[in-house]
Amino acid sequence: MADRERWASRIGVILAMAGNAVGLGNFLRFPVQAAQNGGGAFMIPYFVALVLFGIPLAWCEWAMGRMGGAYRHGSAPGVFALLWKHPMAKYLGALGVCLPLGVLTYYLYVESWSLAYSMFAMMWDLFGVRSMDSLRAFLTAYQGGGTRIGVSLIAWVFFLITIGINYWVMTGGIARGIERLARVGMPLLFVLAFVLTVRVFTLSPPAGAGPDQTVREGLGFVWNPDLGMLRSGKVWLAAAGQVFFTLSVGFGAIQCYASYMRRRDDIIVTGLSASMMNEFVEVILGASIAIPAAVVFFGRAGTVDIARSGAFNLGFVAMPAIFQQMPVGALFGLMWFFLLFIAGVTSSVALAQPAVAFLEDELGWTHRRAVRAVWVALLVLGHVPILGFSAGALDEVDFWAGTIGLALFALIEAVVFLWVFGAERAWAEIHVGAEVRLPRALLYVLKYVTPTLLAVILAAWLWQDGWAYLTMRGVPAEQRVWRWVARVMLLGMLAITVALIRRAVRRPGAAVPEATS
Ligand code: PHE
Repeated sequence: MADRERWASRIGVILAMAGNAVGLGNFLRFPVQAAQNGGGAFMIPYFVALVLFGIPLAWCEWAMGRMGGAYRHGSAPGVFALLWKHPMAKYLGALGVCLPLGVLTYYLYVESWSLAYSMFAMMWDLFGVRSMDSLRAFLTAYQGGGTRIGVSLIAWVFFLITIGINYWVMTGGIARGIERLARVGMPLLFVLAFVLTVRVFTLSPPAGAGPDQTVREGLGFVWNPDLGMLRSGKVWLAAAGQVFFTLSVGFGAIQCYASYMRRRDDIIVTGLSASMMNEFVEVILGASIAIPAAVVFFGRAGTVDIARSGAFNLGFVAMPAIFQQMPVGALFGLMWFFLLFIAGVTSSVALAQPAVAFLEDELGWTHRRAVRAVWVALLVLGHVPILGFSAGALDEVDFWAGTIGLALFALIEAVVFLWVFGAERAWAEIHVGAEVRLPRALLYVLKYVTPTLLAVILAAWLWQDGWAYLTMRGVPAEQRVWRWVARVMLLGMLAITVALIRRAVRRPGAAVPEATS
């Protein structure tokens, strides 16, 4: 059997993993979540969740993935079968293929907007559109509001181009596709984010601005904790959700990338470096661009309103509105949108890789065939969030796959790794090839605290809101059809994955790990 693909270098792994984690979540989702959940109030549960769930679970995923890779399994079904010798195990892993793919069905669409807006800024100065209101109308028109089919031609074309770019990167494989992209993309991303941060810090408020419209005030909004908000369960759930999303934990995506490492490569320092890079980009750069800029221009209350008015209004309406009022604003607009695009593309390939690895490792498909199948499927499925956009199909997919699904899968991972495989073995596995040892207290946090808190959060949600969500209480009647289509799509993806896992099980010699590494 040919050798399984590997990363070419350690710095390549770190950059690829950082590229995996740093995504639209850092620049679009994080500021909106922070603004909606009380600014500084959000940061306390955020850091608690980072330390208690985020980074420890990331290490577990790195360890599971590296171990799986030694047995030629890169996706969750194969990895779980190694950890738990039970016929059910591989079916539990189905979520680790479907969740990233489900998220990808809409992630690609948003990524394609940032590519389109980069072009609009570069070539046509965003068509000279300047005010908040006209930029909002522009975004709505671009998204196909008012068209009969629900998508504008230009948005659809950019969606296709985005798929093409992703496909092209992934045909190159791990070292020559994904790693190369990260080696070029990540340094560029840092430079762009840094320049934008400096520009925001030197912003002067517009004429007639109030005394509180300063960068200082904007940073204060992010960093001054409001302890009263800590009693709100919703803030905690939002913070934990953001930590998972941004670190790419709970998707099976870190596992998959880690499976292309060598058995004795360190994962503790390497994993921490990648997670820390993500946090630097999120809480330092991510928090220093959109929110302070919006506070300078629209004040604190205005910023919260913008964030509440829709998930994309901060990034695609308020930011260009600010840049458009500066000298050479189109250039800053280009930098902002291109930054989003790079962040997006280095993450979207990571969201697709578990499915590719599954088809290659468990079904024996060639790389070419696996990549083609996954991207053709995405080309078709991506139309659900697009055509159902105005009915909230995107939000529906994001909620089930991107919030509930990942908390559930993270819980499954923690239980399988720490309880079924066993805490001591898991601890030893994390320390294979380690350059430093982790404090043992972390093992107890991982074994007891992490799964308990996850289970409590999920149970509380189910108890308080589960039924209302399931029955779409309060959702306008005209939105229900598309939201149901979105749910059926996700269930269909799960059913197909389960069927493929069954096939893999029947394939002679497949999925059964060899005893040696
Ligand atoms: N972490 C990415 C972001 O912040 C999203 C992502 C999740 C990417 C899982 C890959 C895998 O946007």
